[in-house]
Amino acid sequence: MTAETTPGTSTAAGVGGLVDGFGRVATDLRVSLTDRCNLRCTYCMPAEGLDWLPRPELLTDDEIVRLVTIGVERLGITEVRFTGGEPLLRRGLPGIIERVAALTPRPKQSVTTNGLALARTAPALKAAGLDRVNVSLDTLDPERFRTLTRRDRLHDVVAGMAAAAAAGLAPVKVNAVLMRGVNDREAPDLLAWCLERGYELRFIEQMPLDAQHGWDRTRMVTAEEILRDLSAAFRLDPEGDAARGSAPAERWLVDGGPGRVGVIGTVTRPFCGACDRTRLTADGQIRNCLFAREESDLRAALRGGADDDELADRWRAAMAVKKAGAGIDDPTFLQPARPMSAIGG
Ligand code: 5AD
Ligand code: SF4
Repeated sequence: MTAETTPGTSTAAGVGGLVDGFGRVATDLRVSLTDRCNLRCTYCMPAEGLDWLPRPELLTDDEIVRLVTIGVERLGITEVRFTGGEPLLRRGLPGIIERVAALTPRPKQSVTTNGLALARTAPALKAAGLDRVNVSLDTLDPERFRTLTRRDRLHDVVAGMAAAAAAGLAPVKVNAVLMRGVNDREAPDLLAWCLERGYELRFIEQMPLDAQHGWDRTRMVTAEEILRDLSAAFRLDPEGDAARGSAPAERWLVDGGPGRVGVIGTVTRPFCGACDRTRLTADGQIRNCLFAREESDLRAALRGGADDDELADRWRAAMAVKKAGAGIDDPTFLQPARPMSAIGG
C-alpha cells in the first residue's frame, strides 16, 4: 500500500487537495467506524435500535487505513476524527489509530464517543497514538440520563471522562444537546461541572438527523437561548472569529477564563462558509456534508481494484461538488436519507 502512496506522487495542496467550487479546502476527515451504538439517545435512534449495516458492507480495518492513508498522503488531510455510532465498539480501533499515527505527516487523531467504554480503553487508546476525545453528555441527572439515552449508564460516562483525562487524552471536550422540556434548564449546571474538571463544554443545537425524523424546528433549543441562560450565571466574553477559525463552535471565555464554553449553532448560526470537513461512512461512502443527499461510493471502487490514484480522484470529485450550505433553516430543507449514526457525527 505504501509503495504507491509516497509523498512524491501527491500534488500540491489546492491542486491535489480536496477543494470545492467555493474555494473551501477539506483537511478534517470524519470517519464513522460503525453505525451501532450501546445507547439509544432519543434525538438519534428509536428504542429498538436500527437495522444495522450488514458486516460485509462495512469497511475492514485495512480498508479504512488505506483510505485514511490516501487522505493524509495525497489529499492534505491533517486531522482525523473517528465517530459512529459508537466508535469504541469497533475492536480494531487501537490498531487503526496506531497505523494512522505512523503516517507522514502525522495527523491529529480524536474520537467522538459516548464514553461508556472509555474507563476501560483510555490508556490503550492513548498508547496507540490518540490525541483527544469528545464525550457526549447531555445531563448530570442519573434518572434523566436514563430517560434520554434509554440506558442507566451515567456513572460509566463520568468514569470514562475521568479516565480519559487521567490518560492524557486532553483537553476532554464534552458535547451536550439540549432538548426542550427534558434537559433545557441544565446548561449552567453542565458548564459549572465541566469547568470544575477542566473539561471543555460545547452545546450543539439539535439537528434534523434522527432516524425517526422527529426533529422539530419550533421545539429546538437555540444557540441564543443557551447563551441567554449561561449569561445569567456566568460572565461570557466572546473569543472572536480569529479564534474560531474553521471550528464550528463559537467560543466564550467564562468568568474571565481560562475556562471556555462553545456553542455550535448548526441550524441558527451555520458555519458552512468555513467548513473544512470531509466524511467517510462506515460502509465506505464519501459525504461532502453531514446534510448532503448524495454519497460517493469509494468502497465499490476500492473493492473493484481501483488504485490509490483513482481513489484519490474519486474523493476529489466528490468534494468538488460540495454545496455552499446545508440550508437547514430553509423551509425546503430535506433531511438526509441516512441518520447521523450511519453518517458519522
Ligand atoms: N443533533 C445534534 N447533535 C447530535 N448528536 C447526535 N445526534 C444529534 C442530533 N440530532 C451529537 C451526539 C454527539 C455528536 C456526535 O453529535 O450527542 O455528541
Ligand atoms: Fe449512540 Fe451517539 Fe446516537 Fe447516543 S447520539 S445513540 S451515543 S450514536
